[in-house]
Amino acid sequence: MIKNLVKDVASSAARGLIKTLPLPISLPVFLERAKGPRGPHELKNRTVFMTRLQRPFDREIAAEYVGQGAQVIVLDPKANHELLDGLNKPEASGGRIHRAPSDRDSLDSYLRSLKELLPKKDGDGPRSKIVFIHTLDLDQAKTQDSVLEILEDYYKTGHAAANILVPGSRLLFLVPPSSHNQDAPQRMALAALGGFFRTLSKEFGKKGITVHVVESWPSVHPGHCARIATYLSGPRSSFLTALWVKANRNPDLTPLNNAGLLHGKTAIITGAARGIGASIAEAFAAEGAAIGINDLPNSEKAAAKTLQSLRKKGVRTAFLPFNVATKKGAQDMAQAIRDEFGSVDIIVNNAGITRDRTIKRMSPENWNLAVNVNLGAQLHVTEALDSLIRDGGSVINLSSVMGIAGNFGQTNYSAAKAAVIGLTEVLAERWSSRDINVNALAPGFIETRMTSAMPLINREMAKQLTALLQPGLPKDVADLATFLASPLGASITGQALRVDGGMAIGK
Ligand code: NAI
Repeated sequence: MIKNLVKDVASSAARGLIKTLPLPISLPVFLERAKGPRGPHELKNRTVFMTRLQRPFDREIAAEYVGQGAQVIVLDPKANHELLDGLNKPEASGGRIHRAPSDRDSLDSYLRSLKELLPKKDGDGPRSKIVFIHTLDLDQAKTQDSVLEILEDYYKTGHAAANILVPGSRLLFLVPPSSHNQDAPQRMALAALGGFFRTLSKEFGKKGITVHVVESWPSVHPGHCARIATYLSGPRSSFLTALWVKANRNPDLTPLNNAGLLHGKTAIITGAARGIGASIAEAFAAEGAAIGINDLPNSEKAAAKTLQSLRKKGVRTAFLPFNVATKKGAQDMAQAIRDEFGSVDIIVNNAGITRDRTIKRMSPENWNLAVNVNLGAQLHVTEALDSLIRDGGSVINLSSVMGIAGNFGQTNYSAAKAAVIGLTEVLAERWSSRDINVNALAPGFIETRMTSAMPLINREMAKQLTALLQPGLPKDVADLATFLASPLGASITGQALRVDGGMAIGK
């Protein structure tokens, strides 16, 4: 406690110092983060600009935003009125849809009309954040020249967003199934979007504005894309930026359970005595799941705080003290789970350690330790729980940005975390017939015991390497894990999603 206080004082002193120095160092904006379980109207203070509303896909997107309490403004001069009309029935959420045709031909007048549409600050209440949604229309991109026009369209969107978005806003590019077609011009246009939106995320990050692409594969229900887009627009995704998320499978669009997103589910989280794992346990429990907390045999004391907090809330929970980096530990854990819970719906492979050395100085012991915990445990646990995980379940594997980009002194960790992404793709294929989605999370710099041990100057440098100029919280990883394990993220599988505030490294 005292140690933390000293650290906080030191870090606020450092902030004060940084502010006064003539250094190219920027300070971050405060990120909004929702507390507790997900509410039905999480987008109440959002004003959503939609550049297109012409097809049933667009309508589904608008309907989801309205349902979650947002004010949707349709800018499309060619909007399909019939689609729109059905949407404006009185909504309990308070969400509404309005039309404000705005022509993009003249950029100046387009900007003027957008600025006029910006919501005014409502007394002392929180300022409405903007979600700017640009839906791609690549169906007509048949020639090479059309690619140039599409890029000009990207420019107009980015330029407009840069001029109107208030801190904490979002810019989303939606790729509907009709634009997923892989003809040459469309492939070029989508490749360009990759470079473009990542660059925007770096430019916008210092204002806490985040940028994403949501791509829907053909024959996926548009409701899935809508659920992903609304999640990325809300207060549980503020630390995420530069994600390209694909709705690449089409499970039933299950209605959400009012008793909690994970009501009636059982989740097993490895290495959950503290840090990110403990935060995932809290988040899953808040959404109604029963929780099995695994950690090393001697870690009951470390796990006590999390276990007590869950039990106080009446959550069904069990402590599973096993070293899952060994086959036997994972098998013994499976037996304990069978006895305690009978089956499992969600597995989070979170246990991890670092043993950093350059490859020249790396001992075989340190190599094996890092590989056995970060990768071996995930192989053993998924194998041991194969017969216990129920159809329709979910698996989340903790990887790392270092598995994507590599990092000096971390060959063992980076190789293992990269292999986790491979394992995730293989498992996603293997278990697709059982309706189980499998994804990896790749955190960047998250405030935990591991990273708090870093010297202040290294921590400051690591922050400056992110677009949002700040580290994430365990809660940020936990929120994304909850989304992926729930019906909201069920259409996503075989993907590695970064939780890194837009780190400068890696793709
Ligand atoms: P942490 O060190 O706070 O917690 C890890 C937990 O795993 C500990 O409680 C530890 O006792 C447990 N554990 C270690 N070996 C185990 C084994 N063989 N069997 C069972 N449990 C075992 O770590 P943190 O920061 O919460 O990280 C969680 C995961 O996220 C790890 O996989 C880590 O590599 C990954 N990650 C964390 C980042 C960060 O910035 N904190 C960045 C990127 C990835």
